[in-house]
Amino acid sequence: MAVNGALAFDGVAFSYGNVAALRDVSFEVAAGERVALLGRNGAGKSSVVRLVTGVLHPDEGTVWVGDWDTAGRAPEELAWRVGSVFQHADQQLFARTLREDVSFGPRALGFPAPEVRRRTDEALDALDLHAHAAQHPYDLSPALRKLAALAGALALEPTVLVLDEPTAGLDRAGRGRVADAVREHADRGAALLVVTHDLAFAAETLQRGIVLDRGRLACDEPLDRLLTSAERLKPLGLVPPPVAALSVALDLPGRPVRERDAADTLARVAGGRSRS
Ligand SMILES: Nc1ncnc2c1ncn2[C@@H]1O[C@H](COP(=O)(O)OP(=O)(O)OP(=O)(O)O)[C@@H](O)[C@H]1O
Ligand SMILES: [Mg+2]
Repeated sequence: MAVNGALAFDGVAFSYGNVAALRDVSFEVAAGERVALLGRNGAGKSSVVRLVTGVLHPDEGTVWVGDWDTAGRAPEELAWRVGSVFQHADQQLFARTLREDVSFGPRALGFPAPEVRRRTDEALDALDLHAHAAQHPYDLSPALRKLAALAGALALEPTVLVLDEPTAGLDRAGRGRVADAVREHADRGAALLVVTHDLAFAAETLQRGIVLDRGRLACDEPLDRLLTSAERLKPLGLVPPPVAALSVALDLPGRPVRERDAADTLARVAGGRSRS
């Protein structure tokens, strides 16, 4: 297969013993692209994340990270290209201070101290965590620990960033920080794959939706189209987020799914009405 994307699954199958988690899954994510990975509980999303990070390897097919076949590569090697946050991100923190934790990745890759410091500072900045840098990770709230795990992934400056439920348990401000940080990282050229049940976050932050259904790829299309199609979402166990639902209910032109776009469209429509 020609590898164009920063990340590609080519006919991937994976089973845990006799439990089939993924069957014949193929997709690509280009550099700079922001993709949501959706699907109901048990659909296989976290298994995709584990395959990208090299914690698992496919039984069939190939996972490509750029021009690297992940087969035979350990997570430590893939860390040159892949940054990740697992579903239970608390388990990813183990150092004595938040700063030490965030700097773990670049130190493990062997970068010299000034480079480790620069990457750590930038990642702490990106998530507005400097005020907590000296604290012990376990003295932080679960929400801050979640942000800290993401900062650790960003500090690797990966070409592929794969996040499993990065906004779970975060308030609106926390979700905003995650959104800004990952958007900025994708703008610098990283491929972004985000597992999420938070479709409002997906609508605001991501561009394309890949949906898994019982281990199979059930759909792969632009999120604005997917999220405004109730008949496509329902059989996949997904509920449209409020702005998308509103946009459909009012039959707004272009069916916007982001708050800002919906507000602009509503203002235009209302303006048109008041002039007529
Ligand atoms: N360690 C494991 N051992 C055995 N089976 C597993 C294991 N992890 C996952 N599975 C099974 O593999 C399938 C896919 O699980 P996976 O965790 O990838 O789903 P998911 O989409 O991430 O679900 P959720 O939304 O609940 O996090 C499920 O049937 C699950 O029960
Ligand atoms: Mg999962």
